[in-house]
Amino acid sequence: MSEAETKNEPWMNRRVLVVGAGTMGGGIAQVAAQARIQTILSDADPASLERGLNAIGSRWERLAASGNRNPEESAEFASFLRSGTLADAATADLIIEAIVEKREVKSALFAELASIAGPSAIFASNTSSISISALGTASGRPDRFVGMHFFNPVPVLPLVEIVRGLETSDQSLATSVAFVTAIGKTPIVVDDAPGFVANRVLLPMINEAIFTLQDGIAARQSIDDVFKLGMSHPMGPLALADLIGLDVCLDILETLHHDFGEDKYRPAPLLRRMVDAGKLGRKSGEGFYTY
Ligand SMILES: NC(=O)c1ccc[n+]([C@@H]2O[C@H](COP(=O)([O-])OP(=O)(O)OC[C@H]3O[C@@H](n4cnc5c(N)ncnc54)[C@H](O)[C@@H]3O)[C@@H](O)[C@H]2O)c1
Repeated sequence: MSEAETKNEPWMNRRVLVVGAGTMGGGIAQVAAQARIQTILSDADPASLERGLNAIGSRWERLAASGNRNPEESAEFASFLRSGTLADAATADLIIEAIVEKREVKSALFAELASIAGPSAIFASNTSSISISALGTASGRPDRFVGMHFFNPVPVLPLVEIVRGLETSDQSLATSVAFVTAIGKTPIVVDDAPGFVANRVLLPMINEAIFTLQDGIAARQSIDDVFKLGMSHPMGPLALADLIGLDVCLDILETLHHDFGEDKYRPAPLLRRMVDAGKLGRKSGEGFYTY
């Protein structure tokens, strides 16, 4: 047995359903399949599902072409991934949600999943900021509910914030930590609070960079270069906002603003205008930069 196979042994005969095949869901399904765990990817929008599956296939082809993986390995990964629907929740051991960052939409999805999934299945949300305790309540199984906050791009970044809701059980937490470890990521367990740790700190910085641009203090590239050259950040906050998605940034700031009730989290008007104009960053081809 290879090192990877030994590490994920408890997960070998288990099944993971990922709901939402966008930027994050596609990455999560990819790394789960690479760990040789039976993985099913679904999306409410058939075109998004197809795009997500094609993107994973292209990444595996690039890995093989670059010599980082051999072609047989890429084919083997593909054998652990298939498309599916919410009905697949009936046989899933773990369901990871990665859909739009709207509390009502996620709550409705978890209520629906609860009527399909088996009693022992664990539900996880990749939410960037929404209360895990609230989503746990909406699911009707708050003890078997965790936050599993992956980072973008998922195949590259090692961290997963595991968020413990008020009622998350020790067993669900331990199973989630074991899963994240089995797929080769590093779990850090944090308590449930708006934005958890990462986005509570990161998003105010991105927002302030957008205010700085809006106020005409410096050009976009200069703002980003301050962080790259002065603080050794691999990319500046405006380029990072484009990578995350400006709509996702706005949704997270709205949650921080609403849940903390503090004006320091109010989204920059320029961010709102760009989202209104459909300039969402890399995924739409234009944000603070053009792609
Ligand atoms: N983009 C990031 O950098 C990042 C990082 C960490 C966490 N997140 C979180 O991950 C989640 C997904 O973000 P993303 O960037 O992948 O978004 P995205 O827009 O790329 O993809 C979201 C996908 O969900 C699908 N969807 C929407 N509503 C659905 C529903 N009711 N049922 C099934 N599918 C549905 C959409 O069709 C789309 O394919 C959000 O909660 C976001 O906050 C994003």
